Amino acid sequence: MSRNSTALVTGGGRGIGRAICQELAASGVDIVIADIDAESMAETADLVESIGQEAHPIETDLADFDSVRDCVDQAYATCGEIDILVNNAGIAGPTAPCEEVTPEEWDTTLDVNLRGVFYMCREVLPIMKEAGYGRIVNIASVTGKRPLVNRTPYATAKMGVIGFTRTLAAEVGRHDINVNAVCPGSVDGPRIQRVFERQAETSGESVEEIENAVKDESARGELVDGAEVANTVRYLCSPDSRQITGQDINVSAGKVMY
Ligand SMILES: NC(=O)c1ccc[n+]([C@@H]2O[C@H](COP(=O)([O-])OP(=O)(O)OC[C@H]3O[C@@H](n4cnc5c(N)ncnc54)[C@H](O)[C@@H]3O)[C@@H](O)[C@H]2O)c1
Repeated sequence: MSRNSTALVTGGGRGIGRAICQELAASGVDIVIADIDAESMAETADLVESIGQEAHPIETDLADFDSVRDCVDQAYATCGEIDILVNNAGIAGPTAPCEEVTPEEWDTTLDVNLRGVFYMCREVLPIMKEAGYGRIVNIASVTGKRPLVNRTPYATAKMGVIGFTRTLAAEVGRHDINVNAVCPGSVDGPRIQRVFERQAETSGESVEEIENAVKDESARGELVDGAEVANTVRYLCSPDSRQITGQDINVSAGKVMY
């Protein structure tokens, strides 16, 4: 990274978000971590500091506008800049046929996965416009591009994130603010194991059968590592990615090719 940078990473407490915090810190970026879980955030903060960068954990609920606004105010007051925003936090939502999804489950999934992205961008954009520079990366999913049976709220939210990304990129490009989406395939870790378990309960297959079927869907026959997603995010957050905006880039072992 060729400039002093501060990144705000949502959902940085664990999983892909933690890998993104570590990857950005390793390239010389200070990190504001916005997560609902204070305990895991503190662990990520320790990891960032052990790399030699500043870490500022701020307990935030992305589904709550006041909480997001307070987070950004606090981050800006502390760091004096936010030139990178990574909207990574997300929840899987229910695994159920559409007619069994409750209105509350629908709202919660859309609130965290889509509304939260809007809230964060809304609050951070004035800071980036004032600075005349910014890099925004939204973590969508390959499920933002193709159907995933029994996951209507999640797929709808992630398809929304891609539409939001393209539109915002067109709005803010003249301010040297780039907006891209990264679409992971199936990333190894506790979250995907929970999804496999829920799918196994619904389908009657074993967790192992589900996992093997998921791997078989990809060109490389593998799950993706969170660090591999983080690596792509780091590139998109760097000044080197200047001419890449409004894109949705798959990191999916070749599961999806469009
Ligand atoms: N893991 C995968 O296979 C996979 C695949 C495609 C896309 N993704 C996307 O990548 C992103 C990260 O996924 P992950 O697997 O690391 O998930 P994870 O569940 O391991 O971590 C998500 C983080 O978000 C935080 N979070 C949840 N709700 C929040 C809220 N309301 N406010 C603030 N923070 C909140 C959690 O506390 C947690 O730290 C998500 O957007 C997810 O949809 C994941």
